[in-house]
Amino acid sequence: MTERLTIAIQKSGRLSKESLALLNACGVKFSINEARLIAHSTSHPIDLLRVRDDDIPGLVMDGVVDLGLVGENVLEEVRLEREAVGDAAEYKPLRPLEFGGCRLSIAVPRETPFEKLSDLNGKRIASTYPYLLQRYLKDNGVSAKNVNLTGSVEVAPRAGLADAICDLVSTGATLEANGLVEKEVIFRSQAQLIQSNEPLSPEKQAMIDQLLPRIDGVQLAKE
Ligand code: PRP
Ligand code: ZN
Ligand code: MG
Repeated sequence: MTERLTIAIQKSGRLSKESLALLNACGVKFSINEARLIAHSTSHPIDLLRVRDDDIPGLVMDGVVDLGLVGENVLEEVRLEREAVGDAAEYKPLRPLEFGGCRLSIAVPRETPFEKLSDLNGKRIASTYPYLLQRYLKDNGVSAKNVNLTGSVEVAPRAGLADAICDLVSTGATLEANGLVEKEVIFRSQAQLIQSNEPLSPEKQAMIDQLLPRIDGVQLAKE
């Protein structure tokens, strides 16, 4: 029986379409059934695991999947979190991918006076990236309180839950729609292809060795 290489990608979100398109352009074809978590490639012994982006780093670090396509924002946040609690946080970075560009930024309501980062001392900042946020604040000598949310961060100030937010910004439309102004970029991110640190069978390694130059070719052709 041939071993199947497993790749985790975001099920639905900013990276989903381009992750699939990249694999497709590399000749790895899938027919996706929206209701299913797993998709078997119709062209290669490869299985796709379609999950929440936040789960991808852990699946790779635990060796549950062989490869993952994930945003560096989520990757670094999960790495910091797992290091803090003593869980395995190792992975092999394989390739930066030319999509999913965004930044993690601190933003405040339009009417909030803000001149410098230290204005956030003693303030509440809502985020789904508590570790990246706290690392940045600590590096800059600011002490603020994390308000940890799992979503809808942009409504937190209006709801009276926080004084500022720290969230991903891509076009800026979400901030604009919520009366928020970007003040400080704390992390720049793009998608990345990562591999588990677990030793792979020669068959699986051969598949990855075949896939990487194709990815390079696809990315070069797009430049
Ligand atoms: C991010 C962020 C905002 C939006 C910003 O969410 O939380 O909601 O993108 O994009 P914009 O500047 O173009 O308006 P994301 O798509 O990463 O989804 P998630 O928070 O559910 O992972
Ligand atoms: Zn997410
Ligand atoms: Mg969001």
